[in-house]
Amino acid sequence: MNAIRIDGKAIAEFLRARVARDVALLQAKWNVTPGLAVVLVGDDPASSVYVKMKARHAQAAGLKSRQCLLPSNVSEAALLELVEELNDDESIDGILIQLPLPGHVDRWRVLEAINPAKDVDGFHPYNVGRLATGLPALAPCTPLGVMHLIKTVVSDLSGLDIVVIGRSNIVGKPLALLLGDAGCTVTGAQLQTRNLPDLCRRADIVVAAAGCPELVRGDWLKPGAIVIDVGINRAQDPTGTVKIVGDVAFAEASKRASYISPVPGGVGPMTVAYLLANTVNAAVSRRGLSLVMSPDAGQVWPASFRETTREVELQQAT
Ligand code: GUN
Repeated sequence: MNAIRIDGKAIAEFLRARVARDVALLQAKWNVTPGLAVVLVGDDPASSVYVKMKARHAQAAGLKSRQCLLPSNVSEAALLELVEELNDDESIDGILIQLPLPGHVDRWRVLEAINPAKDVDGFHPYNVGRLATGLPALAPCTPLGVMHLIKTVVSDLSGLDIVVIGRSNIVGKPLALLLGDAGCTVTGAQLQTRNLPDLCRRADIVVAAAGCPELVRGDWLKPGAIVIDVGINRAQDPTGTVKIVGDVAFAEASKRASYISPVPGGVGPMTVAYLLANTVNAAVSRRGLSLVMSPDAGQVWPASFRETTREVELQQAT
């Protein structure tokens, strides 16, 4: 079997176009331009690239975009002051503090200072609690993107066995909540989990978000499984060239899986698309407007992609 690639790049492009359409609608109907502020502390090259990409896509979708770049030695007090200013700024609907923050800053104190209504990362304990209780909430962007990719290839998730490897606040924990709400039996695994390969072999869907290059091998998978790779790792190939690789050994896994998301071009672009969608949703909710505009996972994928996919028939473990 050769797995079909889940083309996150194309799906995200489609989503961003929908966000752009929604922004145009908001402007025409209510003269509202949603605004996103992205805060970067320090000059970590990877974080700088992500922040620039987020700002570029925000602008392309018609959002107002503000980048706040602060030196790595900025005081926690100054950062908290900036968050207060953004909370009070009526033209800003979404605030994202790019992580990680330098060690001298208390990450949680800063994240908790964000107005939960503008918390487009979904990291504020208020939103985490609402998500956990099933109340409407701003949810983290990467898990929303993963849910969307899964729903693109399998319409009914109820009853499926899913292993999520990794328990981060950004991906693993919120994703387990979303999958549980969709009726899945979710096993939250981590690197220390005993018999991880066996556990994965029993799963209909494996999501790898452990930050460990090529952790998931081909023979860890049940034939026909769906594999979603959230990892973004820098690794050197035998010639010394640095490459970006995921948490899944892609070539091996492609021989066993029915669908697989690649790295790059899988989950990454979806995270950015959902950041834009969350910002538009925050703009709508904050003003009490009633435009139904959230990208509805499962219903929105490019026709060209849908035509190349088939409903998955999950095979029994062999
Ligand atoms: N650093 C790595 N991923 C993320 C993310 O999704 N949001 C923020 N704010 N920082 C990150």
